[in-house]
Amino acid sequence: MENFTYYNPVKLIFGRGQLDKLPEEVSQYGKKVLLVYGGGSIKRNGIYDHVMEKLHEINAEVHELPGVEPNPRVSTVRKGIDICKREGVECLLAVGGGSTIDATKAIAAGATTETDIWDIVTKKEQATDVLPFGTVLTISATGSEMNSGSVITNWETHEKHGWGSPYTYPKFSILDPAHTFSLPREQTVYGMVDMMSHVLEHYFHQTKNTPVQDRFCESILRTVIETAPKLLDDPENYEYRETIMLSGTLALNDMLNMGYRGDWATHNLEHAVSAVHDIPHGGGLAIIFPNWMKHVLDENNADRFKQLAERVFDIDTAGKSDYDAALEGIEKLRDFWTSIGAPATLGDYHIDGGTIEEMADKTVIARPEYGNFKKLSRQDSVDILKASL
Ligand code: NZQ
Ligand code: ZN
Repeated sequence: MENFTYYNPVKLIFGRGQLDKLPEEVSQYGKKVLLVYGGGSIKRNGIYDHVMEKLHEINAEVHELPGVEPNPRVSTVRKGIDICKREGVECLLAVGGGSTIDATKAIAAGATTETDIWDIVTKKEQATDVLPFGTVLTISATGSEMNSGSVITNWETHEKHGWGSPYTYPKFSILDPAHTFSLPREQTVYGMVDMMSHVLEHYFHQTKNTPVQDRFCESILRTVIETAPKLLDDPENYEYRETIMLSGTLALNDMLNMGYRGDWATHNLEHAVSAVHDIPHGGGLAIIFPNWMKHVLDENNADRFKQLAERVFDIDTAGKSDYDAALEGIEKLRDFWTSIGAPATLGDYHIDGGTIEEMADKTVIARPEYGNFKKLSRQDSVDILKASL
């Protein structure tokens, strides 16, 4: 392992009925609240009314920013920043998924400075302070409820960047698995692919002696694989929803990667695809991850893939080379995602080869090489994207 410092100040409030804790949490940070949410699912499933009822218990002055897009846009973030400055908002509440939470992080940072938020997202400037914010999670996927990361899209330039800061941890996150009952099937699938992808991004690293971390990763992958089909057959099953919700949070709250750095090339590739084509993040990952695996696999690193094949997919590797066992594991991952209805090719989103060069350019905007398990160049991006068509 490498030396590390672990810091995560998020107060996680998990379980049925935990929205009742909202008034006591919000009241610690102020009465003027900006409520941030997406395209309306929280109005249809009743979560909005419930949240408003709880905010009225503390006589909060509630301002609203509805309409945060999946793949949230900087233009919407700027609207939120304007409301905060104009109304003297004291704290923010994100009610939704990763998109709503990520937008809220950016609004919270932009509201305390005159620096344009896009300069912070693109890391030309750094966040130095934020308004306090909490979250009520409605989809299990990104882990944004318990990490400091945020991913924002600029639709004018077709760029999508991840950023974060020591200030952008939620003060609290309320996770009631019942809030995810109303998710459409495909969003449930995308969320499960995303959390598995976060674990896989961690899993592929070059640091020696990480047996605890490896088995944490494997346990989450096995749990999601075991639970996913049952949940899809029985979407209002509380126990399956709670299992998936906890998996999603643990997959990206920095606990799994204590002492090493994961790969993250596949996320860089997916962000380039959704910056150009605005596809769901989890859908993009399902397409690209197995192709990244096949692209980087070689005789020198096959043992890592073999371990995944054996321990997560129960592949009998006796008498097989590491390389062959690795390939079998990759096929099993693809088959599993296909079995739950995830897309397998860019063609599933009607994306043809015409934008490959544009997408490849975006993978190297920030740096000429990316990925930590294996360094990739722009040409690697082209090859992986072509294999994904
Ligand atoms: O917008 P509404 O109407 O609320 O509908 C949403 C949206 O259409 C719907 N939804 C959410 N909860 C629901 C629901 N529908 C019915 N019932 C519910 N309970 O689901 C759709 C997707 O929501 P979104 O927030 O976009 O999903 P997700 O949580 O997957 O977030 C994706 C975004 O997060 C970024 C992605 O790149 C993408 O922009 N990521 C953020 C990360 C982070 N901050 O750590 C890491 C990830 O790797 C990822 O990059
Ligand atoms: Zn992700």
